[in-house]
Amino acid sequence: MDRLRITGGTPLHGEVTISGAKNAALPILCACLLTEEPVRLNNVPDLKDIRTMLRLLEQLGVKVQWHDSESLTLQASDITSYEAAYDLVKTMRASILVLGPLVARFGQARVSLPGGCAIGQRPVDQHIRGLAALGAQIQMTQGYVVAQSDRLQGNTVRTDMVTVTGTENLMMAAVLAQGTTVLENAAREPEIVDLANLLIKMGARIKGHGTDRIVIEGVDRLHGAEHNIISDRIEAGSFLCAVAATGGQIRLNAVEPDIMGATLDKLREAGLSLTLGEDWIEATMNGRPNSVDIRTHEYPGFATDMQAQFMALNTVATGVALIVETIFENRFMHVQELIRLGANIEVDGSTAVVRGVDTLCGATVMATDLRASASLVIAGLAAQGQTIVERIYHLDRGYAQMEHKLQSLGAQIERI
Ligand code: UD1
Repeated sequence: MDRLRITGGTPLHGEVTISGAKNAALPILCACLLTEEPVRLNNVPDLKDIRTMLRLLEQLGVKVQWHDSESLTLQASDITSYEAAYDLVKTMRASILVLGPLVARFGQARVSLPGGCAIGQRPVDQHIRGLAALGAQIQMTQGYVVAQSDRLQGNTVRTDMVTVTGTENLMMAAVLAQGTTVLENAAREPEIVDLANLLIKMGARIKGHGTDRIVIEGVDRLHGAEHNIISDRIEAGSFLCAVAATGGQIRLNAVEPDIMGATLDKLREAGLSLTLGEDWIEATMNGRPNSVDIRTHEYPGFATDMQAQFMALNTVATGVALIVETIFENRFMHVQELIRLGANIEVDGSTAVVRGVDTLCGATVMATDLRASASLVIAGLAAQGQTIVERIYHLDRGYAQMEHKLQSLGAQIERI
């Protein structure tokens, strides 16, 4: 099994190009199910989760044609199956995103329930309740959600909590429903706006995306389109945390600073000096970071997907930081691993108190989930001596070529 060997203590210097956003690309790949015409996507990140989603779509009968490493055309003109099997869904929860499009266009879907997850229970009850409100008949049998419907009917759906993929699933279902759907308490993430922008190019009638009330007028059919996926704000934020922890000066290209507000504010508070362009960020760090308190929140608040990386930054900061995780109930799995590197962290329920230490000391640690892996890499880069990060298949799910990008910034990191 692959591992990363990091020799820490070297400040980062240089430039990297940020990839397309995983969390925008995954629903967007599923949106191709809504039309029989070709959909061309550019700036698709080269990630394990993307390959898993493409495998699932191919199993349904979608034709996938790559043009280069970041561009592909999908065509769902000959769908032969409506099933997402457990084997794939258990490796990637986002597989649930085929549910809405399949029911909307074909009136049937059989999708495995994802089951538990390292960071929390993560049920999909809101996806299912919302689809039922649009008129789908839903049964749960043998661990599968089985949905059937004549044409879906528009309705007002208010989810009990703000859910990102739930909003995406219901938006994709509603674009082909008859009549008007109003999604209240909708998620406002930039990745939802990106999906809506593609759907609009395909002929959907959507208003209010980016707010908590999305209004969708269903149409009879959608057509093909071409779309460039937005930049990955979490990948960009992770590199900025790395330079804030190690010191140095880096430039990120192909980024969208406008959608990174909460992360950039916290990085400035940590002492990172930032210059923002339209699609680039330059960051300089001298000396140790300041501690920064974090409270995760739905967008535009501070992203839970950046919590672990800021925890790593805080371990080497001056002062004490309070980190409150409000989205997932078990998203502190990285704490015990950071402690192995010499961090001083106490956890009480959903709150962690991080007391910054002068230096971390390299050790062998184990990645437990995607963003936890990034946090261990950042801590390893800041630590003295050698750190081995095990189980980096988690990292490969969501970071394209992370070790190569870090090498180009002068980091001593290699895959072994
Ligand atoms: C998405 C992101 C993930 C991010 C998360 C929160 C993708 C592919 N993944 O995950 O990286 O960490 O948003 O920003 O975009 N919930 C329910 N019932 C539901 C749906 C959600 O109880 O039907 C709960 C979840 O357990 C969680 C909270 O709602 O506590 C938010 O989850 P949600 O926004 O749905 O996360 P995902 O869409 O799975």
